[in-house]
Amino acid sequence: MSNYKLLQEDCLKLISASQFLKAESIDLTFLDPPFNQDKEYASWNDNLPAHEYWQMMEQVCKCVHEITSDGGAIYFMQREKNTEFVLQCLRKSGWILQNLIIWKKKTSAVPCSNKFGKHYQIIAFATKGTTPRVFNRLRISPPLPTNYKYERENGVYLTDVWDDIRELTAGYFAGDEAIRKENGERFHKQQSPIALLLRIILSSTKIGDTVLDPFAGTGTTLVVAEQIGRKSIGIEIDSENVKCIKNRLKSISKSDSILRFYKDYIYTENLKEIWDIDFAPAISKKEEALTLFGE
Ligand SMILES: C[S@@+](CC[C@H](N)C(=O)[O-])C[C@H]1O[C@@H](n2cnc3c(N)ncnc32)[C@H](O)[C@@H]1O
Repeated sequence: MSNYKLLQEDCLKLISASQFLKAESIDLTFLDPPFNQDKEYASWNDNLPAHEYWQMMEQVCKCVHEITSDGGAIYFMQREKNTEFVLQCLRKSGWILQNLIIWKKKTSAVPCSNKFGKHYQIIAFATKGTTPRVFNRLRISPPLPTNYKYERENGVYLTDVWDDIRELTAGYFAGDEAIRKENGERFHKQQSPIALLLRIILSSTKIGDTVLDPFAGTGTTLVVAEQIGRKSIGIEIDSENVKCIKNRLKSISKSDSILRFYKDYIYTENLKEIWDIDFAPAISKKEEALTLFGE
């Protein structure tokens, strides 16, 4: 049985409508809006005057705050040059900042001629109230830095610098996970990696919680939530993207499977409580994940 709702709409219109407000209680929101950098979107003007764009973002943050459970979380992703606007937006709409996550995307830096090349994006993690309702301290096991003398026995706690998740950029690095058109071009240039959403959902939800993505794009949030026993609501304005999301969710492909990441988190103390691998639909092979982490 599917646990998601997918709505083709303008998210601001929908979230500010009172009926929607009454019916839902959101535990986590992933906010990955268009960055207003004049990219080609079929149903969206990506070149709004800056003040209009940020007013809209503040409004979205405010509406989401209203429908979020106490202690619920938001992860707002943006370009690093917009950090001050993101922080302002969150503060003005009532959110309390917990971390400014640096996502160093494992790709080459964007070269700049008169300043340092750009190598990361920000993800502001904030909560409704000062204490998160859920925060699972994930442990990962990154390769040992060359100056370390001893192997780690059981990984390390994840910090606010995420440098182990590759962006789905152009070219071969995007691999199988990037959805492509028949001519080989990527279907959606801003498709987020499965690994990123998995990390966010694992950190800030429990099984059975509800995750919202107001700018769902290709539906990565829903695809992950569906495999890990969380309910999800995706809103996307563009009909082609909505079709793509439906397709992705109809049967989860191998490249969308979260099971390959299970081994990355095996040192997390409460992993079995927050990730029941029996939830994984379609290609769900518990054995596959078990083999991966050597049980
Ligand atoms: C940066 S992309 C999100 C990508 C997504 N994280 C993924 O994994 O595919 C932003 C998306 O927001 C959609 N969008 C733009 N304005 C919107 C609005 N007002 N309401 C809902 N969706 C909107 C765009 O069509 C675009 O697909």
